[in-house]
Amino acid sequence: TDRYCVFGNPIAHSKSPRIHALFARQTGQDLSYEAILAPLDGFADSVRDFAAAGGRGANVTVPFKEEAFRLADSLTPRAQAAGAVNTLTFINGRILGDNTDGAGLVRDIAHNLGAAIAGRRSLILGAGGAARGVILPLLDERPATIFVANRTAGKAVGLAAAFNIEGGGFESLAERQFELVINATSAGLSDAALPLPAGVFAAGCLAYEMLYGRETPFMAQARAAGAAVADGLGMLVEQAAEAFSVWRGVRPDTAPVLAELRRG
Ligand code: ATR
Repeated sequence: TDRYCVFGNPIAHSKSPRIHALFARQTGQDLSYEAILAPLDGFADSVRDFAAAGGRGANVTVPFKEEAFRLADSLTPRAQAAGAVNTLTFINGRILGDNTDGAGLVRDIAHNLGAAIAGRRSLILGAGGAARGVILPLLDERPATIFVANRTAGKAVGLAAAFNIEGGGFESLAERQFELVINATSAGLSDAALPLPAGVFAAGCLAYEMLYGRETPFMAQARAAGAAVADGLGMLVEQAAEAFSVWRGVRPDTAPVLAELRRG
């Protein structure tokens, strides 16, 4: 049995062990997947211990994705662009770092939700790790534009510049419209609304909240403006499926897994 895990802090409520167990059963792969609480000052040691004990790979979640980026011996281009790592593979004593978050978001939007990205004016709200992690995979889908808007305008401008796109503060959204609006801020965790002009949601807009498990003020704002709304549970399952296929070379069918998680 090949061992995998997810490292985080906190980690008790992680859905990843359940998701990967369902993937393994569905694909007939002989593997185990556990949740490991890494101490805030002991992530690297936890990873090395797990690899030394025979672990084959690991996912990484809050707050260790940037540390995992620094820990990896080599990085995929998408992990390099993200500046963060959520998937580690242990090969011959080396740590390979990858990032499947952006691919998971793209797959959820394009496949599960059946929404186009190509040609759409796209807006990313937020300029932290979650925003940075998804820009390159979204750009690869050839949206008409991607604008990055953030409470701290300078961070949006800096992040946008790194990808040759536009960015600014929320005030720069006046008069602008988008067909795809992705909330990559953590504002919903504290039930905070974002200062978005109602006109920012164009006709036929898809509003995507990266958080899941709660109806956030952003989702309510988008609904009120007539947008179609999605939460981030599909992205969670899809980033897991992408990691699973990186490790095992087999892509699980995510639809029944997502349906089971939605049932609770
Ligand atoms: P993550 O890894 O989730 O991206 P982060 O790097 O701490 O976490 O970034 C959090 C993001 O949410 C930032 O863009 C932050 O805006 P600032 O850069 O101005 O801090 C945004 N954010 C958090 N709470 C917010 C709120 N109440 N209103 C608007 N933006 C908020």
